[in-house]
Amino acid sequence: ASTKAYRARLLRFSPQGEALFEEDGLLVVGTDADGVQRVREAGPYRDLAARHAQVPVTYWPDRIIAPGFLDMHVHFPQTDIIGAPAEGLLPWLENYTFPAETRFADAAHAADVAGFFFDELQRNGVTTALTFCTSHPASVDAFFGEAQRRGLRMMGGKVLQDRHSPDGVRDETEQSLIDTEALIRKWHNKGRLGYAITPRFAPTSTDAQLRGAGELAAKYPDTWIHSHVAENKDEVRWARELFPEARSYLDVYTGFGLMRERAVYAHCIHFDDADRALMRETGTAAAVSPTSNLFLGSGFFDYEGADRVGMRHGLASDVGGGTSFSPFHTMLAAYYVGREGQTKPGLSLAPSRLWWNHTGGAAQALGLQGVVGTLQAGTEADFLVLNPAATPLLARKTALADNLEELLFALIVLGDDRLVEQVVTAGAATPA
Ligand code: GUN
Ligand code: FE
Repeated sequence: ASTKAYRARLLRFSPQGEALFEEDGLLVVGTDADGVQRVREAGPYRDLAARHAQVPVTYWPDRIIAPGFLDMHVHFPQTDIIGAPAEGLLPWLENYTFPAETRFADAAHAADVAGFFFDELQRNGVTTALTFCTSHPASVDAFFGEAQRRGLRMMGGKVLQDRHSPDGVRDETEQSLIDTEALIRKWHNKGRLGYAITPRFAPTSTDAQLRGAGELAAKYPDTWIHSHVAENKDEVRWARELFPEARSYLDVYTGFGLMRERAVYAHCIHFDDADRALMRETGTAAAVSPTSNLFLGSGFFDYEGADRVGMRHGLASDVGGGTSFSPFHTMLAAYYVGREGQTKPGLSLAPSRLWWNHTGGAAQALGLQGVVGTLQAGTEADFLVLNPAATPLLARKTALADNLEELLFALIVLGDDRLVEQVVTAGAATPA
């Protein structure tokens, strides 16, 4: 009775990352006992229509159904500091980020920003995000409370930062770990929500806090771990001074048990191949944040290096260091970055690969393969309805596209929130 079908142009991905496209497609979804809608079947309308003749069909002619985007690294409390100018990461943290985050001790402020943040994700077609909150537990409750009301698949956690941080955001070692465990018990695996153990980055945590975070990560092995690494040269120098025993900045995290499946590190720019190999061997993933890296002047993610060694990665906005919630803007920035430092001249990343890196590929890197991001049968039905004629230029360019790569590239280069006409969420919205 709960089965429904949607007919439109249909973009999906194979589990291996191949883009699949039907000019006339059908997406059949049904609600399971847990209240979550999952894909029953997807493919060409002509092949599937007869088998689902009893099922009500919503028809969106000329629209494109596509998997919802995943943002692998974003800070909801930094929504209001997008575009704050600074001479690089460390002054930006001190002058804008920490003052803005101080306000999240106030639950009402946290709830207000969380509501605005989820509205923005939705308008831009982001259906899952791995999110920093602040060091205040109230910010975590605001985040998960709002995600739960909307039925979203979301991950987040309380920031751990017990040193080299100003009053107002600095937490206390023992209490921060007690708070983290209480928040794991309160929110982790509650419906579609997942907890992320979130040391801000090595320079702002004591050894004791990092050790405690690693112990929690071992005790709750299906939680996420979420932090930053090797973003900016001054930051790398600082981390090396603070942890002289470690082989590299990244190696600090291994020493505390903070690298494993579902561990995600933003940036991973200033790496060598030994760092990349450590990422691969531990199943740790990089969240590549090109608009942030360009805006803060941090550097360029090395796609060739990641491929050479086989390091997992996917795309992220890193708002407020990043300049946009739009996955289209992030994919375009990744295209620019992918050309930087290439040893083989030629095109940058293929449009279908950019798209995969923000959907199924990001899901895989997050340890959510088979759960979201592809619209394969059995996955959760978080999907977008895109209008490829949302602007006059988009209408003209997408009509001229001769093949799938040209169509996807037109959407990436010219697209923004206007493309996203509807977002269908797999989870049930629950009233406040
Ligand atoms: N490194 C430590 N904290 C932050 C942050 O909030 N944003 C970014 N981009 N890098 C960081
Ligand atoms: Fe960040």
